[in-house]
Amino acid sequence: MSNDQAEGLKALLPQEAATRLQSLRVADGRATLVLDATGLDSSARSALEAAAKQALSGAEGVAEVRVAMMADKVERRIIAVGSGKGGVGKSTLATNLAVALARQGRKVGLVDADIYGPSQARLLGTEGQRPVAHDSKLVPIASRWGVPVLSMAHLSDPGQAIAWRGPMAAGALTQLLEGHWDGAEILIVDLPPGTGDVQLTMLQKFKPAGAVIVSTPQDLALMDATRAMELFEKGGVPIVGVVENMAGYACPHCGEVSDPFGAGGAEAAAKTMNQTFLGRIPLDMSIRLDSDAGQPPAAGEGPQAQAFADLARKVGEWLDGGASKAHP
Ligand SMILES: Nc1ncnc2c1ncn2[C@@H]1O[C@H](COP(=O)(O)OP(=O)(O)OP(=O)(O)O)[C@@H](O)[C@H]1O
Ligand SMILES: [Mg+2]
Repeated sequence: MSNDQAEGLKALLPQEAATRLQSLRVADGRATLVLDATGLDSSARSALEAAAKQALSGAEGVAEVRVAMMADKVERRIIAVGSGKGGVGKSTLATNLAVALARQGRKVGLVDADIYGPSQARLLGTEGQRPVAHDSKLVPIASRWGVPVLSMAHLSDPGQAIAWRGPMAAGALTQLLEGHWDGAEILIVDLPPGTGDVQLTMLQKFKPAGAVIVSTPQDLALMDATRAMELFEKGGVPIVGVVENMAGYACPHCGEVSDPFGAGGAEAAAKTMNQTFLGRIPLDMSIRLDSDAGQPPAAGEGPQAQAFADLARKVGEWLDGGASKAHP
């Protein structure tokens, strides 16, 4: 990268982008800009981003333009999505909860706290992108769904096994959580399964405002969900409620709804634990296919999107009303 090249590109920027420019770097034909988005709403941000991109694309030596936005500080609260048991749909739930909240006008970011098995880059379609650092803090990657994200998947190569010890994993999590989240009022954190170092760091250091517990309807998943609820409660983190995922399978051929994993178990478990039941997300082939393709179902239309929208509304209301609404 040459300084002259960066200076030359700065001169091409429209006035507003130039005023808001925090940094501009060029490497391997890729120009990366960090802009201060303080005070801009989302349409003004998009317009600023588009104008900056347009001004630089086609400039000599620039094959690609990336724009990262940093915004003013707002009060930010963390909602952790946890389960105890693996594979019940935490990551899917976290993505779609975040996307649905963004659709409802909330400023929301997503942290993938699964250091060893990150999935949010795939789920949000941001694979292969690398975050820039500004003031030694990571700038979240903008996704197409209005939800900025930070995940280990953006910092390591796909398929690369991360054989870190607990303290290093906890350090990585800290980097993700301490990124430039200044514009986000809600940070959804996708937790890995279990009750290890990452979860402990999360609870002790970052004090989530609340936890959403995901369970499938099976007894075993429910037992693990109960354990997860106990972990959060012991850590002083209020439970927003329990979501039953993979509930009720609608046959794509005849439409008949069956319950491969049983039904209503999570609702009953929530009741037993004196917790709010936040609703059901159906077991649906399109949820898996769209998720794998980086196209969050919550961004679409139809019953799946509706189920996530309902969940997001309840979580949003819980945040607006404070923890007092957690135990009706
Ligand atoms: N409601 C659903 N309908 C259909 N498939 C689903 C649903 N929820 C999740 N899945 C699929 O189930 C698999 C596991 O989901 P996901 O990765 O979200 O679980 P997880 O709890 O985050 O897993 P891990 O514990 O490994 O982090 C994925 O292939 C996902 O697409
Ligand atoms: Mg996961």
